[in-house]
Amino acid sequence: MAVLTLTLNPAIDQTVTLDHLIPGAVHRARAVRQDAGGKGINAASCLADWGMAVTVMGLLGSENAAPFDALFAAKPIIDRCLRHPGSIRVNLKIVDGNGTTDINMDGAPVAQAGVDAVGAALEAQAQAGDVVILSGSLPPGCPPDIYARLTAMLRARGAIVLLDSSGPALRHALDGAVLPTILKPNLHELVEWHGAPLDTPHAIATAAASLLERGVDLVAVSMGDQGALFLTRRETLRARLVSDHVESTVGAGDAMVAGLAAALAEGAGLERMARLSTAFAVGKLGQAGPHLPARDRVEALAARVETEILMGEKQ
Ligand SMILES: Nc1ncnc2c1ncn2[C@@H]1O[C@H](COP(=O)(O)OP(=O)(O)OP(=O)(O)O)[C@@H](O)[C@H]1O
Ligand SMILES: [Mg+2]
Repeated sequence: MAVLTLTLNPAIDQTVTLDHLIPGAVHRARAVRQDAGGKGINAASCLADWGMAVTVMGLLGSENAAPFDALFAAKPIIDRCLRHPGSIRVNLKIVDGNGTTDINMDGAPVAQAGVDAVGAALEAQAQAGDVVILSGSLPPGCPPDIYARLTAMLRARGAIVLLDSSGPALRHALDGAVLPTILKPNLHELVEWHGAPLDTPHAIATAAASLLERGVDLVAVSMGDQGALFLTRRETLRARLVSDHVESTVGAGDAMVAGLAAALAEGAGLERMARLSTAFAVGKLGQAGPHLPARDRVEALAARVETEILMGEKQ
């Protein structure tokens, strides 16, 4: 069983550290760094830290792909991303004593031929039993139903599809004839899809259960510091671990997705899935970027995760 991640809208996170950001003033940067980003790339980075070989797929602009090449060389990540002549969008993060100011930019539109080529590459790569992580937003120019189409293709091939997206890309995927095997919405994404507030754990579980009825096998609803709900048709679990050190919450959801894939690779049941994916997410919180602590640290976190069965039988 291989794990593949697809990133159609990668980004370079450019972090500029200043003493104090003053609008309109000229600043001298204390430090500047560039990191490869995009949700599938982040999930792959966490899986590689866990010790799994993972293949990344997607589209990278060749003009500024150096941070990606560096990441793929530094970790056991198999690069099957296609290159196109453009550049990768840059997300600017300005860090000063007051926190982080984010300035996100849209990338250049992708050509239909590029999207088609990625779809064909994924079709050639994915085998029955593989876990394919489809995650993140879509670049301008990309058909909004791309995840629905890729899901149908991948599931027909016998692959397990794990989708983590939002807005129209998520809505189209959930309107498709064939649904993803696993979904990891955060609460905001679930509310957006549901179209009305979800104020109680019962309301959240009911909305998530409607996705199970439509054919999804597992829904993990992440709720930031409130932990996550994990639902199958048989069981509903809540898992939570209080974090004693939060370096950055960015990409916690991507680490959770990686943890779900790692648990699938073990053939884990729902309790272990909930523990391991929560441990991946909380382990990542202690790191500035999409990285995990050492494997024994992640296992120690998994052992400390508090789980509560909300529905179903205790095994
Ligand atoms: N402050 C926190 N304290 C403890 N656990 C947290 C905290 N923030 C996130 N987590 C853990 O990480 C998981 C995923 O976080 P979150 O719900 O924020 O995902 P997300 O919104 O999809 O994140 P992103 O899309 O930025 O990667 C949560 O279910 C929880 O287990
Ligand atoms: Mg997320």
